[in-house]
Amino acid sequence: MNLPQRVRIVEVGPRDGLQNEKKLVSTDTKVELIARLGAAGLKAIEATAFVSPKWVPQMGDNAEVMARIVRLPGVDYPVLTPNLKGFEAALAAGVEEVAVFAAASESFSRKNINCSVAESLERFVPVLEAARAADVRVRGYVSCVLGCPYEGEVAPEAVADVAAKLYEMGCYEVSLGDTIGTGTPGKTRRMLDAVARRVPTDKLAGHYHDTYGQALANIYASLEAGVATFDTSIAGLGGCPYAVGASGNVATEDVVYMLDGLGIETGIQLDALVDTAWWICGEIGRACGSKVSLARRGCAAAA
Ligand code: HMG
Ligand code: MG
Repeated sequence: MNLPQRVRIVEVGPRDGLQNEKKLVSTDTKVELIARLGAAGLKAIEATAFVSPKWVPQMGDNAEVMARIVRLPGVDYPVLTPNLKGFEAALAAGVEEVAVFAAASESFSRKNINCSVAESLERFVPVLEAARAADVRVRGYVSCVLGCPYEGEVAPEAVADVAAKLYEMGCYEVSLGDTIGTGTPGKTRRMLDAVARRVPTDKLAGHYHDTYGQALANIYASLEAGVATFDTSIAGLGGCPYAVGASGNVATEDVVYMLDGLGIETGIQLDALVDTAWWICGEIGRACGSKVSLARRGCAAAA
């Protein structure tokens, strides 16, 4: 089986990782987290979300985060924008890349962004038009690709349909979100088979939450299917406010460790990630959700 030789990691910790924290994380901490992730070699760091602060208070300092981060050359700092209002605020904050987010399940779409799937796609059209005019790249997300917290099973064809619409609308890449982490490798493969019939595989990314401990296996299945971009979160931080019980994305350290072992290049330094993971967990008082960081800290303590 030919696996990709190089993988692009999109670090979503500062957004997906922190959006669900009950206690407000300071802007200082977010800015330092983003700096440490850049220093570790990450080339794409999802920095914040221009969503309603009433819906997600943790992202309420979005403009300040964007104003204060030091943008490294060659590093992208995308942000979420659910509508034109969010896009305009993001543009004013100087972003060069945004992400629109849809779902493959109607119930999740309503809970997450207060509209139907079709309405969300209509809402994205002016965002993509404005982005094109401003030379801003747009990524698309599909949530609930391997299961929905409200509807259960989600048909691969429903995922493919939303992914194709986002791609045809002009999203340069479509990230496939296992929002509640219920997917397994076989299911992942079947979903990717359906999506790849509508969107080229090199335009797809895997965004797997690790609630059931399947995310690494799902990434491996995706690598076998030719996917070479994955979203991950430092220390496995996170969850979705509209998917109760869902845990964070697969930990960046665990994915980089696996890819290093497979001889797949990422350009990311594992030791720097482990240090960053322990630092952010200390800052926000969270248990570390990365097996690799736990093992490395255990080794350091025993030495
Ligand atoms: P709504 O209430 O239907 O919006 O929310 P509205 O257009 O009726 O406006 C209501 C109020 O919100 C108005 O203010 C608007 O100005 C304001 P008011 O007049 O009441 O003072 N508003 C905004 N404020 C700031 N920024 C904006 C914005 N838009 C409207 N962009 C809305 C609709 C989409 C805004 C809301 O539902 C929302 O913000 N949802 C975001 C939910 C969210 O962030 N979820 C987590 C991210 S998605 C995720 O985690 C999944 C992912 O990781 C992939 C995966 O794992 O599956 C990506
Ligand atoms: Mg997510």
